[in-house]
Amino acid sequence: MSAELISGTSIAESIRQELRERIANLKSKGVTPGLVMVRVGEDPASVSYVSGKSKTSAELGIRSETLVYPEGTGEGELLARIVELNRDPRYHGILVQLPLPKQINEDRVINAIDPHKDVDGFHPVNVGRMLIGEPYFLPCTPHGVQQLLMRSGNSPEGRHVVICGRSNRVGKPLAAILMQKKRGANATVTICHTGTRDMPSITRQADILVAAMGSPRVITADMVREGAVVIDVGVNRIPDASKKTGTRLVGDCDFEAIKEKARAITPVPGGVGPMTVTMLMVNTVRAAEIRLAAQRHG
Ligand code: GUN
Repeated sequence: MSAELISGTSIAESIRQELRERIANLKSKGVTPGLVMVRVGEDPASVSYVSGKSKTSAELGIRSETLVYPEGTGEGELLARIVELNRDPRYHGILVQLPLPKQINEDRVINAIDPHKDVDGFHPVNVGRMLIGEPYFLPCTPHGVQQLLMRSGNSPEGRHVVICGRSNRVGKPLAAILMQKKRGANATVTICHTGTRDMPSITRQADILVAAMGSPRVITADMVREGAVVIDVGVNRIPDASKKTGTRLVGDCDFEAIKEKARAITPVPGGVGPMTVTMLMVNTVRAAEIRLAAQRHG
């Protein structure tokens, strides 16, 4: 048996198609959704992520601008700029690409962003709202995972979802989203992490297994139950002499072996990655819609 591939590329495209209509509707009312991205330094992954987000924005008709600061920028200068961007009506969303250079405290930067413009969903106000089931913006990667499951016919409702990884950007928020008493959620959620004893005995209980540990191919076939659905959030670059660049991308799963055992699996690339970018666009459009509605009724 070979698993069905869950294509993030095609599910993301159908969400973008829905967004095009919402953007056209906003434009007919004189509003162009605007996203400003801030990048500090030249970390190659960050350069590539930000340019991907910028390209997708342009393709959808979202106005985007990227502000690039040198590696040595001080925290004060960045915070001052965020205060300005919070007030700038052209931008409905602000994204500061992480990680930031070590002289800048990421938490203070995230805390400085107006929660109404925090399209990453990282501000503690938005994290708290998500946890209590009153979300304003959901963080892009876990929201993308939920959409992948729903739209591929693998609703997490009533299922046992085992998440490997407890990061603030993926593992923890995904658990918070999927445990809510809501449509598209209502799952039994277990989180495994580096302190977990005998992880394979737990992952083998998963109806839906989410790999979000950030290490190449650490989820092996013996950790997966026959017929499980596997979502691979990992993006790891490993050496590959057969490639022109000398490297290639792999996920956190041993894809080739697991695809013989799972019912469905996401590829890397082409799985969760395109969903993350698309959910950022969803949040930006939502920010513009909410502001327009507030202006009309306020
Ligand atoms: N770096 C890696 N992923 C992300 C993300 O989703 N948002 C931001 N701001 N930085 C990231």
